[in-house]
Amino acid sequence: MLDTVKIITTKRNGETLSDESLAALIEAYTCGQVPDYQMSAFLMAAFLRGMDARETTTLTGCMLRSGKVLDFGGASGRTVDKHSTGGVGDKISLSLAPIAAACGVRVPMIAGRALGHTGGTVDKLESIPGYSTRVSPNQLHRQLDELGVFMIGQTDEIAPADRLLYALRDVTATVDFVPFITASIMSKKLAEGLNGLVLDVKSGRGAFMQTEREARHLAEMLVSVGTRFGTPTVAWLTDMNIPLGRTVGNWLEVEESIACLCGQGPEDVMSLTLQLCGEMLVLADLADSPDSGVQLARNAVESGRALDIFATLVAAQGGDTSVIENPSRRQRTCLPQVVRAPEMADRFVTDLDARILGIAATEMGVGRTVKEDLVDPEAGIVLHRKPGDAVQPDEPLASFYTRKTGLSAQFEQAILSAYSFGNQAPPSRSVLIDRFTDTGWSNAA
Ligand code: URA
Repeated sequence: MLDTVKIITTKRNGETLSDESLAALIEAYTCGQVPDYQMSAFLMAAFLRGMDARETTTLTGCMLRSGKVLDFGGASGRTVDKHSTGGVGDKISLSLAPIAAACGVRVPMIAGRALGHTGGTVDKLESIPGYSTRVSPNQLHRQLDELGVFMIGQTDEIAPADRLLYALRDVTATVDFVPFITASIMSKKLAEGLNGLVLDVKSGRGAFMQTEREARHLAEMLVSVGTRFGTPTVAWLTDMNIPLGRTVGNWLEVEESIACLCGQGPEDVMSLTLQLCGEMLVLADLADSPDSGVQLARNAVESGRALDIFATLVAAQGGDTSVIENPSRRQRTCLPQVVRAPEMADRFVTDLDARILGIAATEMGVGRTVKEDLVDPEAGIVLHRKPGDAVQPDEPLASFYTRKTGLSAQFEQAILSAYSFGNQAPPSRSVLIDRFTDTGWSNAA
């Protein structure tokens, strides 16, 4: 008989839990036998008292086994996916998945929706008219065999314990805790039955992990759990202090991703996409080193193969490919509102706060402020100026799109407050900070 109070007490007193206790708790909660008020008390006790590496691995396993583990293995290659811990303007998956597929990787991508101030790949894909993020199991297998990629949303069968726990964490202030984030991400990714996983662990203002120290710890936990479950896992620590690329929004980011697939994306998005793809190719045994993988990925973009795969993927999942061929054909009903540089704008943009922009974009309709909100495919921000760009007073800094009436002045203020100016351009920084594998960090910190 499960003694939930005893489990909560053990954690409240800062002791470690046995594998059996954790397994029994997660199983009973998933079956509806533990009420939310007891699980909330457990979550907070664990958040405050901590969980060690063994408990984190056990928790991941319990959440993984709460649902189905898929098997997309096939004669035609290895399955490798990529997952980001979440950022602002993070559209990498949209171009990365088709590029990797064009290079021969099988990519069974099950993506998420916007979370807090960070965007979600599923919301972005659904801004393509007709695109369905729910596809039958038969079609998923067929798509992987014929095209090498599918991109869908979470299904009810995968890690149901995570869905229940995530909703509870969201309302009990227990989201930003490394053991819970690790178990949440890895239970879902391991359920894809992968041969390899590449993780983009974001660090900085626009990320869940705001300090590099916390982000490094998260990367280490994620890789260690992947390795323990027999899935070779590589993590890149990447900068999320300023938004990625020049757009934050659902359709806006699809448009920018199409530019990337044409080889014309912004430098930060292109370099991160190609690097992560290089890692996927190594894990899929299609490249000897990340550098040669990057070159293969670049070739797939330059030859147009990656864009063709994206268009075929969109068609296979019911989307309108005419807007992929020509993004300006997508009907727009929202007009841009321009934010201009203030009088004190002094020659250069020196900084741009990703968190402020992420929160503003969410409120414009890019994400949800309450669970029931519908996202607006057109809402978002276009950044005409980013750190390092020259600027004069009254020049356009950014444009925003929203259907929220009466809030324009507030959005304009928020965007202005995200910018800093100075009379010197800041040093240019790579978005790629460091790489972690089961043999350690590349640049030991
Ligand atoms: N992404 C997830 O899937 N889960 C978390 O807990 C945080 C980010």
